[in-house]
Amino acid sequence: MPRRAGIGSLLMPHLDPALPEPLFRQLYGELRQAILGGRLTPGARMPASRAFADELAVSRNTVLGAYEQLLSEGYLEMRPGSGTYVAADLPDLLPDRTGKRPIGEEKAQGQLAGWARRAATLIDPEANSRQSRDHIPGSVWTPCFIPGLPDCSDFPFAAWSRLLAKSWRDPERALVMGGDPGGYLPLREAVADYLRQVRGVDCAAEDVLIVSGIRQAVDLTCRLLIDPGDPVWVERPGFPGLRAAIAAQGAQLIHVPVDDEGLDVADGLRQAARARLACVAPSHQYPLGVVMSLQRRLALLAWAREAKAWILEDDYDSEYRYAGRPLAALRSLDEDGRVIYMGSLSKLLFPSLRLGYLVTPPQLTAAFRHARSVIDDQPSMSTQPALAALFQSGLLAAHVRRMRKRYARRQQLLLQAAAKHLEGQIELRPDEAGLHLVGQLVGAAAQRFDDETASHHLRQAGLVVPPLSRYDVGPRLRRGLMFGYAAVPDMRIEPAIALVAKMLKP
Ligand SMILES: Cc1ncc(COP(=O)(O)O)c(C=O)c1O
Repeated sequence: MPRRAGIGSLLMPHLDPALPEPLFRQLYGELRQAILGGRLTPGARMPASRAFADELAVSRNTVLGAYEQLLSEGYLEMRPGSGTYVAADLPDLLPDRTGKRPIGEEKAQGQLAGWARRAATLIDPEANSRQSRDHIPGSVWTPCFIPGLPDCSDFPFAAWSRLLAKSWRDPERALVMGGDPGGYLPLREAVADYLRQVRGVDCAAEDVLIVSGIRQAVDLTCRLLIDPGDPVWVERPGFPGLRAAIAAQGAQLIHVPVDDEGLDVADGLRQAARARLACVAPSHQYPLGVVMSLQRRLALLAWAREAKAWILEDDYDSEYRYAGRPLAALRSLDEDGRVIYMGSLSKLLFPSLRLGYLVTPPQLTAAFRHARSVIDDQPSMSTQPALAALFQSGLLAAHVRRMRKRYARRQQLLLQAAAKHLEGQIELRPDEAGLHLVGQLVGAAAQRFDDETASHHLRQAGLVVPPLSRYDVGPRLRRGLMFGYAAVPDMRIEPAIALVAKMLKP
């Protein structure tokens, strides 16, 4: 009797041992997709793990791992004595039942049935931070060269856990009951002190609001200051996550180019002089690394004063400057109370911390606090006292000093490796600050690849080097490759760059 084709050959899961994502995660993803896309229907029996493993030429543990994950998420169910089945009671309207992308489809027809119009930007992965696709869940190591990732390997976790435990052993009433929409007062005081000393920002603790990060600060600001359809200046190229957060509030994005002096204010004025808000990263533009010139800073402030517009200052990585003196924040030049200043603590400590701050001009403070209390009363208090203690103890400053040295060294190692291996292929531009460098494809490599195809090609070797064009919009995209070096151990930099060179050779 001919052997029946098993599920494995029907589904043809594409499993690639060369990818950093473990095989069981790859198989889990493929099966989940098959269930969501309707190729595996509710109630269908799954093959026994051993037979399935043979069919796919993988170990049985791979299949068991994938099944276990799908069981715990409710896609599969066990029937004792009978086997493993696709859950029988999956709702009819799973998000991806047709295997198509309904959001993209409906958007193409200019409608999003049942959705608010402003939801399009919030749920469209293309419009959102496209970096997220570069994170590889379940990977045991961090692939080279994801931009924006700090090195968390030496974070003082022992001290951190002691501070966490101490703050909750015998907590004060305010900590347990909450009630301050601005966040934990000692943390706001510590942030205000820090900003005064390090960034030249003269602010009172009451004007500091603790938020879950810069994007939440943007979200809150736009809710309060932007009406649907209002023009907002954003940098191009720029951080897609911020563009998406602003567009999600219904703003009309005005993409203002960045040149060697930062945001081109004159271009912004030509495009939309009556914009309500400008979102800029003047201390270290992302992703180009440009520092906004004093003339441009003054021109931007003059525009805001004249147009009664607001400026959202994104100071996302000012701690990581390796040469020259740290520049004072734009906010320190603001005499009219038009600048709302934002910073993130997640890059300083570790990404999952999800804490940042917003400094409001005094005349907006009460409104921001009120808005915050409408949305969710206050940010979670669980980590704020430990963070305040980390600031006060000097441990945070010591950690930042250590990391600054380490990142400066890694940038040097990256540049040395590039000089040795990438000559005639990629030119890397040094930067006095930040966690990544931008490289330009040159010579034969530039003829063979644009940045998107080069990035895709490098991805085949497990290297995550995003194309600069992903951060840009418009007809003539800025092109280049983004090399995040901060989280790459010293010893891995040169071999990874040698691999880049090999991959790009004809
Ligand atoms: C330039 C820039 N601004 C803002 C953010 C977002 O910060 P958060 O994660 O605190 O929302 C990032 C994150 O990588 C960034 O690169």
